[in-house]
Amino acid sequence: MLRELLCLGILLAILVGFSHGECNACSVDSKTACVSRNQYQNCTLDNIPTGPIYTCPNKTNCTGSVERCTSNETLFSCNDCNKCDGTQNFTCTSPSTFALCDGVSVVNIEYSCSLGQVCNINNRNYCAPPLNGTGATCPYYNSTTVIGDFCNTKSSMGRYPDPSDSSCLRYIYCFRKGSTWTGNTWQCPLAKPYFSSITFNCVTTKPSNCV
Ligand SMILES: *[C@@H]1O[C@H](CO)[C@@H](O)[C@H](O)[C@H]1NC(C)=O
Ligand SMILES: *[C@@H]1O[C@H](CO)[C@@H](O)[C@H](O)[C@H]1NC(C)=O
Ligand SMILES: *[C@@H]1O[C@H](CO)[C@@H](O)[C@H](O)[C@H]1NC(C)=O
Ligand SMILES: *[C@@H]1O[C@H](CO)[C@@H](O)[C@H](O)[C@H]1NC(C)=O
Ligand SMILES: *[C@@H]1O[C@H](CO)[C@@H](O)[C@H](O)[C@H]1NC(C)=O
Ligand SMILES: *[C@@H]1O[C@H](CO)[C@@H](O)[C@H](O)[C@H]1NC(C)=O
Ligand SMILES: *[C@@H]1O[C@H](CO)[C@@H](O)[C@H](O)[C@H]1NC(C)=O
Repeated sequence: MLRELLCLGILLAILVGFSHGECNACSVDSKTACVSRNQYQNCTLDNIPTGPIYTCPNKTNCTGSVERCTSNETLFSCNDCNKCDGTQNFTCTSPSTFALCDGVSVVNIEYSCSLGQVCNINNRNYCAPPLNGTGATCPYYNSTTVIGDFCNTKSSMGRYPDPSDSSCLRYIYCFRKGSTWTGNTWQCPLAKPYFSSITFNCVTTKPSNCV
């Protein structure tokens, strides 16, 4: 058992260590995870991106290396979504959908991952359960979602559907901090992977409005 854990640890260290180009994956170097082209979140000790979403300064984008944000294009993370480079058979088109590649073109038919799975470009089977909340090749967020603004608009404590996550795998929890509102994003647990915009809770069955 101990040996297995050790092996898993080493495997994870390798995976995490080589995750410079990846999205939604915690990097050992930066202790953060890029969650979109120019946004990142801190990571918990067990490598789950959590808490507020920080935006990179102008003219920089997110990277898995120590500096977190860089203007060096070769180091950018989160840039494999919805594109074919001519060597892949498929590409992820959202956190939980994929499409086939025809050379450098994305074939215009989308397939959905199974319940609770996310699409990862390095997965031969296209989709798998997210590794402790990480691992989708495509960002859940887009650059215009700002959690503070979102929660200020709601001005009420509680959970809300994340407007930028059409796959419904995440929700935003808003709370009051001093005189302003702020919030965190959370991933629904594996047993109840989808956030329902009707009950405002995580549920087992994918709601019909979710991709
Ligand atoms: C995120 O990490 C940075 C750098 O380690 C730290 O300054 C900041 O307080 C962290 N944010 C939260 C919400 O823990
Ligand atoms: C970044 O650019 C935007 C739009 O051009 C501008 O509104 C904002 O103030 C800039 N932020 C910084 C930190 O320079
Ligand atoms: C960083 O990402 C943003 C949003 O995707 C993009 O508009 C911008 O051009 C990128 N910046 C650089 C320096 O590539
Ligand atoms: C960008 O990063 C790569 C890889 O670390 C490095 O080889 C290259 O010199 C960097 N380019 C610039 C302009 O800093
Ligand atoms: C793509 O599919 C072909 C045929 O099924 C297979 O031979 C090839 O190894 C696949 N390429 C990759 C990168 O998975
Ligand atoms: C997921 O997190 C749990 C709890 O922190 C940990 O015990 C487990 O090893 C992690 N699994 C992976 C694959 O990271
Ligand atoms: C980004 O999110 C905002 C709301 O948070 C939404 O209005 C906008 O359409 C989204 N943009 C893209 C490209 O998904």
